[in-house]
Amino acid sequence: MSFVAQSHKVESALPARELLSVRGRDELGPYTLLRLERGGLDPGIPGQFFMLEAPGRLLPRPMSLCLAPPGELAFLVDPVGPGTRALCALEVGAEIHVFGPLGNGFDLAVERPLLVGGGIGIAPLPYASEALGNPPAVLGFRSERHAQAASLLPGADIVVEPLLVTELIPDEPGDVFACGPEPMLEAIRVRVPGAQLAWEAPMACGYGACYGCVVEIAGHYERLCVRGPVLRA
Ligand SMILES: Cc1cc2nc3c(=O)[nH]c(=O)nc-3n(C[C@H](O)[C@H](O)[C@H](O)COP(=O)(O)OP(=O)(O)OC[C@H]3O[C@@H](n4cnc5c(N)ncnc54)[C@H](O)[C@@H]3O)c2cc1C
Ligand code: FES
Repeated sequence: MSFVAQSHKVESALPARELLSVRGRDELGPYTLLRLERGGLDPGIPGQFFMLEAPGRLLPRPMSLCLAPPGELAFLVDPVGPGTRALCALEVGAEIHVFGPLGNGFDLAVERPLLVGGGIGIAPLPYASEALGNPPAVLGFRSERHAQAASLLPGADIVVEPLLVTELIPDEPGDVFACGPEPMLEAIRVRVPGAQLAWEAPMACGYGACYGCVVEIAGHYERLCVRGPVLRA
């Protein structure tokens, strides 16, 4: 992988762990927007993530913060396995431990932001959009059903496969913030030097202790949870 850690260092809130209760659960196509009471946790910087206790599983699961309305933290969850399915099945009033905010988020000090999201990769973009004053956004989904999640980013341009979201990126794209499947991020990395890309790797702790998330960054093996998840192309 050829990308670099963010050169900027934005002061972010210290992470904390709290037991939070579920306030609501909204279905958006196959995804669930899980709304938790915020408690004393800081929502952090867009692109940062939280470790959510997944009921019945030993390890928590990393989730990007999707929205931070007053008193709430909301996460868009794709039920791809046992942990995410358990999160999507939480009833209102249930309680889970949440730890964060973690990692390095997006550098918001840019002139011409363009948000690019693919599938569940749109998760961190609504919070980023709010922080950036609702810039243009282009989103790609596998099906019309998956595209229901685009309601979180009103005004976005949307494509559904076989069209690819990269086809909506203009020749002079400005400052790209992207999150999505690895082939999408690779295509953007090659085409848009300097793009801010939110990557994923399996994570067990989220704060640098387990080395489960090691990836190659600019020729060195690094923990993605510490150096990322947002990296510059
Ligand atoms: C920083 C970060 C932010 C994330 N934000 C979100 C989010 O906002 N919403 C969301 O739905 N998901 C997000 N994910 C992915 C999510 O954490 C995983 O899908 C989840 O941990 C899978 O747990 P599971 O028990 O449901 O499935 P598992 O059984 O653990 O995994 C299901 C399948 O996905 C693969 N997999 C698991 N984790 C990852 C990963 N991180 N990268 C690539 N493949 C993986 C497994 O190999 C397996 O094939 C994020 C991951 C990271 C690292
Ligand atoms: S998830 Fe444990 S070191 Fe990164």
